Amino acid sequence: MSNKILVISASLNPASRSRIMASEVFAQLPASADKEFLDLRDYDLPICDAGACYANPLVAKVQTKVKEAACILVAFPVYNYSCSAALKNLIELTGKAWEGKVVGFVCAAGGHSSYMSVMSIANSLMLDFRCVVIPRFVYSEGSAFNEQGLNSDKVKERLKELGATGVQMMNALAPLAVG
Ligand SMILES: Cc1cc2nc3c(=O)[nH]c(=O)nc-3n(C[C@H](O)[C@H](O)[C@H](O)COP(=O)(O)O)c2cc1C
Repeated sequence: MSNKILVISASLNPASRSRIMASEVFAQLPASADKEFLDLRDYDLPICDAGACYANPLVAKVQTKVKEAACILVAFPVYNYSCSAALKNLIELTGKAWEGKVVGFVCAAGGHSSYMSVMSIANSLMLDFRCVVIPRFVYSEGSAFNEQGLNSDKVKERLKELGATGVQMMNALAPLAVG
């Protein structure tokens, strides 16, 4: 049974803040953890057309990475009160590979008011693919960052907690895991 943790960075912005948080949550995972970082900037994925896209070798590649993980921590930018189109597209391309995963969220936003943005993606993963959503997520706006990167001990601590909770839930749910 897999105990792999996949951290996904779902911003295509080279100066992404959610990627910085993704790197932090990845670094804070236990050194002994079986973990992998998937940056969507490294994959020129097609837009989901519900047909030819599924034959793209890059789609198969990311599908395998999602499928092999037991826990997925996904970091994304808040766009229009929801997740980035890049993340939604990844989920459309990889679909059933998400089945039964423990999933946690990290989001970067422009302001304080979009904290419910995580819900549409949480609901869809929970109801479509029976993902178990970690009941804590990390949401941060720009004031947690400076030119050097993430400048907030509070956000760093929350990222550490998210990773630790992901590991705990993955281990606790292992007997029920799919695949
Ligand atoms: C197209 C677009 C839509 C956005 N929509 C929102 C929004 O609804 N709520 C919000 O708080 N910030 C919004 N923002 C600000 C981003 O969430 C913010 O810049 C964040 O840092 C993006 O994440 P990233 O740095 O990882 O790419 C938007 C930015 C863009 C470019």
